[in-house]
Amino acid sequence: MQEHPEILLVTNRMRNGKASETRNTGRNWHSDLSYTNHPARGSLLWCEERPDVGGDTMFTNMYFAYETLSDKLKGFLDSLYAVHDVSMTKGLDKRDPEKVAELKRLNPPIAHPVVRTHPETGRKALYVSERVRTFVGMTEDESRPILKFLCEHATQPEFVYRHQWRVHDLLMWDNRCTMHVALADFDQTKTRHMQRTSLLGEPSGFIYSENEGERH
Ligand SMILES: [Fe+2]
Repeated sequence: MQEHPEILLVTNRMRNGKASETRNTGRNWHSDLSYTNHPARGSLLWCEERPDVGGDTMFTNMYFAYETLSDKLKGFLDSLYAVHDVSMTKGLDKRDPEKVAELKRLNPPIAHPVVRTHPETGRKALYVSERVRTFVGMTEDESRPILKFLCEHATQPEFVYRHQWRVHDLLMWDNRCTMHVALADFDQTKTRHMQRTSLLGEPSGFIYSENEGERH
């Protein structure tokens, strides 16, 4: 499984004379490290430098996302598993191909329950994201429109908090009941430099084999 680095620099500052590997981190709605079988419980993000305009981070409430579904759809989702795949991470095509290949090799697709009960609050939260490829036992064609609906439903403005960064802001969030996205709506010649760390979460899910769709 993937190692959990203590600090990840999320930056568009040049690194060793090259474009930073993390300059496009977090560009689609996700929950941190959901592509592992120990998804992050929480994450902390600290702002060292930000552009004058843009570069906000948005968060959405996955309790609300679940609770506002119909009982019929909740019933369908309650026993379903979703396959979280690191290759669905937006911007991988702009990273070093060797490092991406290693990332994929270390992180095979992981199936997690679509609905998870938060171990501390006891509330049910939806656990899907834009990094889900398919549902276990369903085809990708069948899964895609349902995933699209769930992500759109979960990210409606009423459920979203948008953070406009100030230098030295530190944000901490619970990945078990939220998703977030980092917006690329700023002048990329301006520096956005953040430090992130994550808290190791509870074990969850199982390695998904496309051929069998079974537990391993
Ligand atoms: Fe993230």
